[in-house]
Amino acid sequence: MNEPERLTLTDLTDLARQGKRIAMVTAYDASSAALADEAGLDIILVGDSAAMTILGHESTLPVTMDEMLLLTRAVTRAVRRAVVVADMPFGAYQTGEDDALRNAIRFVKDAGADAVKLEGAGRTLTRISAILDAGIPVMGHVGLTPQSASLAGSYKARGRTAAEARRILDEARALERTGCFAVVLEAIPAPVAARISDVLKIPTIGIGAGASCDGQVLVWHDLLGLTRGHVPRFVRRYADLGQAALDALRQYAADVRSVAFPDDSHTYSMPAEELARFEAQTAELRAEPDFTKPLPKR
Ligand code: KIV
Repeated sequence: MNEPERLTLTDLTDLARQGKRIAMVTAYDASSAALADEAGLDIILVGDSAAMTILGHESTLPVTMDEMLLLTRAVTRAVRRAVVVADMPFGAYQTGEDDALRNAIRFVKDAGADAVKLEGAGRTLTRISAILDAGIPVMGHVGLTPQSASLAGSYKARGRTAAEARRILDEARALERTGCFAVVLEAIPAPVAARISDVLKIPTIGIGAGASCDGQVLVWHDLLGLTRGHVPRFVRRYADLGQAALDALRQYAADVRSVAFPDDSHTYSMPAEELARFEAQTAELRAEPDFTKPLPKR
């Protein structure tokens, strides 16, 4: 099979300029990343949502750099075409420019990511600058930013007043001025996202931000129906793989218990004379007595 041509960040900007939408999804392991890549997704985000989807935490806060590096390595090993963006986890850039730069370099150098994503503007801008100075591309993220949302304890949509919408627009512009190649707009009203997308030259990627963004992103588990329990209202489920997996696992367990699996098609044969020899050699062998089991009643 021919190797697909690698997408570049310029290709992403060109797509947006031509009015073509950018399709982005999260992935956290090699087999899902390979599927997303084969399906033609343009950007694969190794999101810090892995804290919840993969590691079972209640929020995105606990995932560590080492855990994110492990997942990012698995993804980059599998991807041939898409741009891979690694999400900087909480604690990887809040402590200052030096830490931000060191951690961004780890994502690119040790894990093969093409770019990193950081949440917020404000103080985050100087950290983004430090990373960009080293030549590492950065994706911004404003609106609902899950790391600060979970600290503040509110996952409600953002930008529903004129003042807050204006603040988000100003943050997105500041990210563009700082040099981000794209910005995620999460959980903000569609007209606000549309205005921001008009004002910015860089692509906007929406999640719960309406159809006017230059692209869309969804979390793998939400998109494929693998999330058990609540999913945000902005999710569209494209499959119910959770139910399919449950059905398959229940059937497998039933087949094991009823000895319907495995059958002859799942086992290996051996020449009849070899089998006869083996049986003759071992005919005398019996199971060792097991003194941990109660003796059979007479
Ligand atoms: O971590 C993540 O999955 C994200 C997306 C929701 C954009 O940041």
